[in-house]
Amino acid sequence: MMSRRHLIRICFFAISWLAFLQTMQRRSLLLSSSSLGTGAAKNSNTEKEGFSACLFFKDDNERLVEWIAYHFHVLDLRYLVVGVDYNSATSPADILRRWNQTGRIQTYIWNTSDVTPVDKVDGLNNRQNHFDFACLQEMKRVNRSWVTIIDTDEYITFNRFSHGDPTLLELNFSQYATTTRDNLIRARTRLPITGGDTTAYSFIQQESDNLPWAYQSCVPMFRLQFGLRETPISQLEREDDLSLPAGYKTTDYYTTRYFQHRPKGSCNKNCKGKTMIDVSRIPDDHLIHSDYNPHGGATTSCGPHNPVPECNGTLVPDYATSIFRVHHYLESVDTVMSRNIQHGSSKMKKFNWYKGLQSEPELEASYWLKSFVANVGEQEARFLLSKP
Ligand SMILES: *[C@@H]1O[C@H](CO)[C@@H](O)[C@H](O)[C@H]1NC(C)=O
Ligand SMILES: *[C@@H]1O[C@H](CO)[C@@H](O)[C@H](O)[C@H]1NC(C)=O
Ligand SMILES: *[C@@H]1O[C@H](CO)[C@@H](O)[C@H](O)[C@H]1NC(C)=O
Ligand SMILES: *[C@@H]1O[C@H](CO)[C@@H](O)[C@H](O)[C@H]1NC(C)=O
Ligand SMILES: *[C@@H]1O[C@H](CO)[C@@H](O)[C@H](O)[C@H]1NC(C)=O
Repeated sequence: MMSRRHLIRICFFAISWLAFLQTMQRRSLLLSSSSLGTGAAKNSNTEKEGFSACLFFKDDNERLVEWIAYHFHVLDLRYLVVGVDYNSATSPADILRRWNQTGRIQTYIWNTSDVTPVDKVDGLNNRQNHFDFACLQEMKRVNRSWVTIIDTDEYITFNRFSHGDPTLLELNFSQYATTTRDNLIRARTRLPITGGDTTAYSFIQQESDNLPWAYQSCVPMFRLQFGLRETPISQLEREDDLSLPAGYKTTDYYTTRYFQHRPKGSCNKNCKGKTMIDVSRIPDDHLIHSDYNPHGGATTSCGPHNPVPECNGTLVPDYATSIFRVHHYLESVDTVMSRNIQHGSSKMKKFNWYKGLQSEPELEASYWLKSFVANVGEQEARFLLSKP
């Protein structure tokens, strides 16, 4: 509270301007979610358009339901390849078929033997890396453009300015932005609300002549860690933002349940970011795993964080210049134990680091659900979001 007051005093103009902007965006979100008419154009599925994702999967159907619906709505996800680990006791096939059936996302399932050489199957990270490269190659072969490699506990949002942003003091509204850094910071003032009418894919198209899209085929995203401390809805300033359609509970979804996080921009442990990659601009030989081509471009040591040389230098993204950020949610300890994950002890260590994180509530990832249900219609939303 103290530091917020302090900021308001120093930067009163900036904050009230942003607040105004965000109120307008929120208003347009509410309008859009009450008018079903906008859904049709947005959801029309054409093979070439929309975002793509490579997702590695191990016994994670509970989270998969929310993950796909969220990214369908927020990114405009239209093409998804899921690599099922050979230690996974469950299959995501039923959930993926829902999206195929409704014609909203083309989904594909691969398994470990499809993509990992027999002598490389030891180690979850090995299997994931082999899947990632095979998937990126396939995305390029089928002429996709922007692809992201994130996990089922990660949710992409626009990195809009809000409480605790370390960049707020740097932001000014002078007419001239000179450096790349200035331009990127200013690009963040044009960001729409996450889950509203403008998807990540359409935002990138609108901005295709601007930084970073015009010059970068790999764009880094800062990862913001969330904890397990809950914020009672009644304590939120804008309780009505989270009023969900009948039958939906905020506690059923990571994105509408957990809002408290690590300080923005802070990074002492586990700071690696994630990336979005335009495979149409990456040469084929940069998409080959180093097990096959040790002298090639790929940098498997950075695995899913930084797979191609075009991502060089972006392993730990700068918060100030990240157009997107990735909300990284913590699983409850019961779920971690029940899933019997191979690297369980490192999960446990992270669990203890992060479970108590405390902050002002960050609601950016929470607005999508209402507008998703309005867009696809209540009946289809119930089908797509039904428990596995
Ligand atoms: C979705 O449809 C495509 C094209 O018909 C098919 O190849 C794919 O296997 C289907 N995916 C699932 C999960 O059934
Ligand atoms: C993996 O997929 C291949 C086809 O792509 C199939 O022949 C094989 O049976 C699958 N293996 C497992 C373990 O499901
Ligand atoms: C991708 O685009 C190329 C060039 O336009 C075309 O020849 C090829 O058939 C396309 N591939 C797929 C899978 O659509
Ligand atoms: C802030 O103002 C200065 C001088 O007017 C300008 O050079 C700089 O680019 C501005 N920074 C941002 C982030 O707009
Ligand atoms: C990444 O950049 C550094 C510094 O510019 C360079 O030394 C290194 O070779 C680059 N790595 C790759 C894989 O391109």
